[in-house]
Amino acid sequence: MKALILAGGAGTRLRPITHTRAKQLVPVANTPILHYGIHSMVAAGITELGVIVGDTRDEVMADLGDGSKFGASVTYIAQDDPLGLAHCVLIAKDFLGDDDFVMYLGDNLLEQDLEAFVAAFSLARAGDQPPAAQILLKPVSDPQRFGIASLDDDGHVVKLVEKPADPPSNLALVGVYLFDREIHDAVAAIEPSERGELEITDAIQWLIDQGRRVRTEILTGWWIDTGKLTPLLEANRLILETIERQIDGAVDEASIIDGRVIVEAGAEIINSTIRGPVAIGSGTRIVDSFIGPYSAVGDDCEVEHSEIEHSVVMERSKVLDIPRLEDSLIGSDAVVSRTKRKPRAVRLMVGDHCQIDVE
Ligand code: G1P
Repeated sequence: MKALILAGGAGTRLRPITHTRAKQLVPVANTPILHYGIHSMVAAGITELGVIVGDTRDEVMADLGDGSKFGASVTYIAQDDPLGLAHCVLIAKDFLGDDDFVMYLGDNLLEQDLEAFVAAFSLARAGDQPPAAQILLKPVSDPQRFGIASLDDDGHVVKLVEKPADPPSNLALVGVYLFDREIHDAVAAIEPSERGELEITDAIQWLIDQGRRVRTEILTGWWIDTGKLTPLLEANRLILETIERQIDGAVDEASIIDGRVIVEAGAEIINSTIRGPVAIGSGTRIVDSFIGPYSAVGDDCEVEHSEIEHSVVMERSKVLDIPRLEDSLIGSDAVVSRTKRKPRAVRLMVGDHCQIDVE
C-alpha cells in the first residue's frame, strides 16, 4: 500500500503565519503537524509516500527531504493550483499506479494510530465484497464546515455531501481515506464543485452511485483539522497532554519545574517557573518568567520577565516584559515586547519576523 499526503493549499485561515510558512509545518508541541501523520503512516507499515506540494513546495521539500529520516521514501508531486483533493489523486496517478493507497490531509491530526484503520481495509479487501474505499467519520458540532455522510440503519453510507448548508447528519469526513484503483475512474468522471474544486467527497459519492462498496468507521479518539487558530491551540494542548517529563536542559536552583515538562538539551531556565504540560525547545532561554500549562516554546527563543500560557511560540522569537500572553500563536523570528509597564493580558496571532510593542 502507498500513501498520498496532501501538503499543498494556501492556508488562508492561518494567516499571517501561513504567508511565510506551509500550514502543515506549523509546529504543535514543537513538532510540525505533518510529521505526526507521517510517523503514523510509517508505523502502519506504509513507507512509499507521495507528497502533493503547492506554493510552499520549497519549504516542505526542505523539511521532509527524501523521507529517510522517517524511514520512508518520498516522491514529490507538484500541484500548480489548489484545484481540490480529487485533483491531487488525478495528478498522482502515475505515482499510485494500481496500488491501494491511503490519502492523508497533511493538516489533520488524529489521536488514533492508522494501523488498525489500514488493517481493517486490507481485511475487508480480502473478503467476498471488497470495498473500493474506506472513510473515517466523526460527529462534529459544525457540520457545515466539512464533508458530511448520511448512513442507513445498517451503518452503510448512502450519501456524501461537501460543506452542506443544511447538513443531513453531523458525521464529518475525517481527512484520512483509503482507496483502491477505482478512485482513478471516479476523479476523472466528476465535475468541479461550486467552489471550483474537484471534491474527493464527490468522487466517493460517484463510487457509491456506481454500486461500489464504501466501508465506514466511526473515529473514537480526537481529531483536529488544524487550519485555524483555535483548533491549532487545541491540538497543541492535546499533544502536550501525552508528553512525558524530560529535563535535558539547564535549570538553575531558583527555578521550579512542575509536572510533565520537556526542556530540551541546550535550553536554559533561569529564575523561572515552568508548569506542565509544557515543551521548551533547545537553545531557548527562559529568564524571570512563568510558562504555564499547554505552552510550546520552540528552539532558540528568549522569554524574559513574562508569563505565557496556552500558546505556541515558534523558533527564534522573543517575548519580553509581557505580563501575560495567552491563547496566542507567535510566528518565528518575531519580537513581542512592552515599553510601558501597565499590566495587561494579550492574545495575539503574530506572523514570522513581526515586531509587536505592547504599550
Ligand atoms: C476537506 C474535505 C472535507 C473534509 C475535511 C477534513 O475540507 O473537503 O470533506 O471533511 O477536509 O479536514 P477542506 O479542508 O478542504 O475545507
